[in-house]
Amino acid sequence: METATRTPLYLLHGDATELFSDVRTESVDLVLTDPPYNLGTFMADRQTNLAAMRANNFVKAGWDNQNYDQWTLLMDCFLAESARCLRLGGALVTFMSIIKVESIVRLAEKHGLYYKTTGIWHKTNPMPRNMNLHFVNSTESWVYFTKKKKTGTFNNGGKVVHDFISMAATPASEKRLGAHPTQKPVQLMEHFIRLLTNPGEEILDPFMGSGSSGVAARNLERRFTGFEKDETYYKLARARVQIDE
Ligand SMILES: C[S@@+](CC[C@H](N)C(=O)[O-])C[C@H]1O[C@@H](n2cnc3c(N)ncnc32)[C@H](O)[C@@H]1O
Repeated sequence: METATRTPLYLLHGDATELFSDVRTESVDLVLTDPPYNLGTFMADRQTNLAAMRANNFVKAGWDNQNYDQWTLLMDCFLAESARCLRLGGALVTFMSIIKVESIVRLAEKHGLYYKTTGIWHKTNPMPRNMNLHFVNSTESWVYFTKKKKTGTFNNGGKVVHDFISMAATPASEKRLGAHPTQKPVQLMEHFIRLLTNPGEEILDPFMGSGSSGVAARNLERRFTGFEKDETYYKLARARVQIDE
């Protein structure tokens, strides 16, 4: 589906492992994504009370409870195909659970991606779940690579940019058309798009969920291609990129 905006936005419903073949080699400037972290089974096995805490939680959602080997195969395919689609010096930023970062770096390097940075998104307003029992979870990591070059586009305007991003979790205003259990704030996606691409360039998100990366790309007049295999989230992403948030 293509929307009638100035820069084209292609949203495709299906499995990323198949849809990557629609993307031309070396045509993408930034892969910006938030793949399954494979924490569903891990959380369920630990009998956390996550299920009770979220009506639509990722433990039950199905897409985050593959076994480790299945997840590794999916990540291997995603990183191999992303490396093929990226132009020389293009960038890849993937959100990831901190305990999986080493696995992602190892797989990415195998496919010619140059490891740059592991950074942290600190959610300034986390749900204070079990606050009297343990540390409240308020962080997610992100990992940044460039393709076969040690530097790429970095639009810092001469200012220091930290690898620690402090920003509130997704506001309710971005969930008014429907919510995704791991929805990222548009502002967070815009942060990476501004720094790592220029207007008119091409962004790819193979696991777009509710389409936050697509909304950010549209806001900043970048071209965008997104994949999502769940029909409900795909429809939500379509709806979101068509309205102003
Ligand atoms: C962590 S969520 C992304 C959330 C997104 N960043 C947002 O702001 O809404 C990962 C998404 O990947 C999708 N997914 C999982 N496996 C997939 C696959 N093989 N192909 C395409 N999408 C997949 C899931 O349905 C889920 O919506």
